[in-house]
Amino acid sequence: MFLLLFLLVAVLPVSNEGGKILWGTETKPHSRPYMAFINFYDSKSHLWQCGGFLVREDIVMTAAHCNGRNITVTLGAHDIKKQKNTQHISVVNSVPHKDFNHTILANDIMLLKLKHKARLNNDVQKIDLPTSQDWVKPGQVCTVAGWGKLANGSLSNTLQEVKLEVQKSQTCQKISESYKDSIQLCVGNPKEKKATAGGDSGGPFVCHNVAQGIVSGGFKNVRSPEVFTRISGFLPWIQEKMKLLQQP
Ligand SMILES: *[C@@H]1O[C@H](CO)[C@@H](O)[C@H](O)[C@H]1NC(C)=O
Ligand SMILES: *[C@@H]1O[C@H](CO)[C@@H](O)[C@H](O)[C@H]1NC(C)=O
Ligand SMILES: *[C@@H]1O[C@H](CO)[C@@H](O)[C@H](O)[C@H]1NC(C)=O
Repeated sequence: MFLLLFLLVAVLPVSNEGGKILWGTETKPHSRPYMAFINFYDSKSHLWQCGGFLVREDIVMTAAHCNGRNITVTLGAHDIKKQKNTQHISVVNSVPHKDFNHTILANDIMLLKLKHKARLNNDVQKIDLPTSQDWVKPGQVCTVAGWGKLANGSLSNTLQEVKLEVQKSQTCQKISESYKDSIQLCVGNPKEKKATAGGDSGGPFVCHNVAQGIVSGGFKNVRSPEVFTRISGFLPWIQEKMKLLQQP
């Protein structure tokens, strides 16, 4: 078997690439107050979107492949077309993992330093990161949320969520030898018609109110399983970078 991976970012306006994805349901507005909507430009000035999540008042975590120019973050949003009471903050420093490899989706993690601290309120909150003891196991069912593509191929205006089951590492290893359980999560039961889609990249995979994974990518022509970044595989890296991004 060989590896054929794609990333789950979406370029705007909507392109028709990407599979038909059956999402779960619209979230209860503001029930996931750590969610960040991210926009950035590539070198050709195309606008892209990703998800992310607030891990410190001044730091959003997302996928490394969501890096680009003029990154902005919107916090406190539900319907992304309605910007009332949202916080729109520019990113002053993006810190992708230096060993990010987009061919095999390894180390797909990035921290974004915000221009100023977010104001925490009912709609804007941080989410906890795992402790070293937390290790997500096959069979566990956790939730991802995002503004990515719906079943009809349109990007969603409202935040959607879906529950996905963690798979045995062998399920992903059978598809790609490069899958590594120490830094990745194999997510999504192949028997279920549920998955993330273009535009959901960077969003959190949340188990018991802890962000355990980052939406990263999938295999070509396979809806499920997908490959997420395993956050607990990066705790020393996260600590080091968050310290460096401390306010002077
Ligand atoms: C990015 O930001 C710079 C400086 O603020 C601005 O001059 C430029 O037009 C922006 N680029 C895009 C594609 O928005
Ligand atoms: C990414 O990983 C592949 C497979 O291990 C390797 O061949 C390639 O050189 C890597 N790319 C980078 C930029 O490190
Ligand atoms: C896709 O579905 C959403 C939600 O049902 C709807 O709002 C949107 O208009 C649809 N887009 C197209 C192109 O049919």
